[in-house]
Order: sequence, then C-alpha cells, then structure tokens
Amino acid sequence: MDQNPKKVVVLYWTKYGSTRRYAQWIADRTHADLFDVSTFDKSLLAEYAVVLFGSPVFLGRLRYIRFVKRNWGILSTKRVIIFGVSGIPPDDPRQEKMFQTSLPDEIRSKVTCFPLRGAFHYGELSLLDKMLMSGPRIRLQIEVWTKRNQEARERMARFFSLLDWTSEAAIEPIVATIDRISENGGPALGTHETHSSW
Ligand SMILES: Cc1cc2nc3c(=O)[nH]c(=O)nc-3n(C[C@H](O)[C@H](O)[C@H](O)COP(=O)(O)O)c2cc1C
Repeated sequence: MDQNPKKVVVLYWTKYGSTRRYAQWIADRTHADLFDVSTFDKSLLAEYAVVLFGSPVFLGRLRYIRFVKRNWGILSTKRVIIFGVSGIPPDDPRQEKMFQTSLPDEIRSKVTCFPLRGAFHYGELSLLDKMLMSGPRIRLQIEVWTKRNQEARERMARFFSLLDWTSEAAIEPIVATIDRISENGGPALGTHETHSSW
C-alpha cells in the first residue's frame, strides 16, 4: 500500500504487551502512525481517515473500549477497525458475543471487528488479575484432585506456563481491509471477521 503516514493511525491499550505487539505489526505493515491510547492527544484524530483501535479482552469484554465510546462523535466520521486480543481462538463462537457485549449496536454497525489471539502467563499477572483468575485455577486444581490422571495434571501445568499464541500472520486480513479501504472504501460496515485458518 502507498506510504501515507497521516492517513491511518493504530491506537492500542495493553496490559501485558500482546496488543501492543499486534498494533506494532499492523502499523509497520501499513506505514500507519502508532500510539498508546493512554498518552494519545485526541485532537490529532482529526488528521486521520482510518482509525484502528486494539484492546485486550478481559472478563468477556474489550477492556478499554471506553475510548471508542467517548470519542464516537469524531470516530463516526471515519473508517474504524477494532481488534480484540484474547485468550481464545478467533473462530471461537464466543468472539461474536464478546464484540456484541462490548459495543453498543450503533457503534457495532459502523465498525469492522477482528479477533486476534494474544498471550497468557499466569506468573506475570498482577495480584488482582491472579485473584480474578482464581476461578479457572481452582477448577483445574479440583480436576487434578478428583481425576488424578495425567491429562488433568498437564492442563494444570499449561495454565501456569507461558502461553503465547501471537502470530504476525494473523494480521493479514486486517492489512487487506486497510488496503481495500484505501483503494475503494473497503468492506461493508459492521462486519465481524473471523478466520478459522488463523
Ligand atoms: C484477568 C484476566 C481476564 C481475562 N479474561 C479473558 C476473557 O474473558 N476471554 C479471553 O478470551 N481472554 C481473557 N484473558 C486473556 C487476555 O485477553 C490475554 O492474556 C491478552 O493477550 C492480554 O492482552 P495484553 O497482553 O495486551 O494485555 C484474560 C486475562 C486476564 C489476565
């Protein structure tokens, strides 16, 4: 795609880094500007025709979607692409529900959403996040005690190891969408794209 650094901007919020990694890959490929949304000067939004926004999914919702909601006045005049980075695969049926729950219908019908798979490392979580994860952890522990088999023990071990599903190849459909927007306006608004081949 043509180099046009003022036209496309990638904004992101991250807690553990995987959303930043995807944002960086997308910005590099599309020659877009890249900003951490928590330090972004919102008056700069006026400069861009295409705005990408990336957020991790925590507890079934896009964690920092309030940026899009609060700035919908100006964002509604642009092409907006939202990517949600989560621990489940992009083709998991829960993805669609996650975008529905996170976004009011009015916004959902005018943005294009992409799910991406991030990373999870229990040992790196903040104390609060470890507490929030105590449900799945206790369920796994009970399984180990009750089933007493190798499979349950392996599942438990996986939960505590570094799980990194981030993949640069997964950004291809997003890059293709940005290219299509630059060429002919892009896909219909309100699209939820899942790519089981990711
Ligand atoms: C407290 C907590 C809650 C999470 N909730 C979900 C969830 O509901 N669904 C999901 O698919 N992934 C969930 N995850 C996994 C994150 O979406 C995943 O680790 C993501 O890559 C984090 O993005 P970040 O590295 O940019 O912060 C959760 C992770 C944490 C720590």
